[in-house]
Amino acid sequence: MLFDSHTHINNETYNDKEREKLARDIENSNVSYVMDVGFDLESSLMACNHAQKYDWCYAAVGFHPHYAKNMGEEDLVLLKGLAKKPKVQAIGEIGLDYYRNLSDPEIQRHWFRKQIQLALELSMPIVIHDRDANHDVMQILKEEGVFSKARTDQFPRQSDGLPDARLLMHCYSGSREMAEQYVKLGATISIAGPVTYKNARKLVEVAQAIPIEHLLIETDAPYLTPEPLRGRPNKSPYVEHVARKIAEIKGLTYEETARITCENAKRFFNIR
Ligand code: NI
Repeated sequence: MLFDSHTHINNETYNDKEREKLARDIENSNVSYVMDVGFDLESSLMACNHAQKYDWCYAAVGFHPHYAKNMGEEDLVLLKGLAKKPKVQAIGEIGLDYYRNLSDPEIQRHWFRKQIQLALELSMPIVIHDRDANHDVMQILKEEGVFSKARTDQFPRQSDGLPDARLLMHCYSGSREMAEQYVKLGATISIAGPVTYKNARKLVEVAQAIPIEHLLIETDAPYLTPEPLRGRPNKSPYVEHVARKIAEIKGLTYEETARITCENAKRFFNIR
């Protein structure tokens, strides 16, 4: 039982036949659930369609910071419509990317705020993309009230008594200190393939420090293929290798790690 909490069956590089093959691979694996995550309007719509088509598929809708420059007021209205469809469980992936800066930072911040406001209005979980923008991401999340009492009171407290802001730091790549700070505020941390890489010292520290109740696992396929499969395109069944690495770090069995991270993801995304 595995939950790939972040994948892109909607990736524009696939054709329909390749997507059918991915679906079959998932059905023949230990993966029970995947979250197909939108990055612009078309991919969000496609994620919604996949969620309709496949029992095991759920969707998140949003504009990735790379595509913020293409977003307009009408897109926000359309996203809101998509967010209300069945099996659409989150707004995302949204955030800031100052590494590639494919959209002007000012424009990235504007649409980041607007999409946070949409998630707050709809009381939906939020999936965050943060690359080289740690400070601004946290400041904007705080300013928009993502960690406010008004927000966290809408969700049951977590098993260790911490508030739940239903905020997911996807493909986490920051420091241990920042991860601890986020978890205290009510966020959840998602770990991807890079935790299996040789140079993953920082990410291993994060996985050690953060209690498993606050961790999800993901592929971000087709990117970031975990070891020992690095070099080929990633796909959801490979999330098993992330689970195996987390199990090793935490001193848990693979089965326990798979089950707990799956339960965490179902709870986070309100899936029963
Ligand atoms: Ni992604």
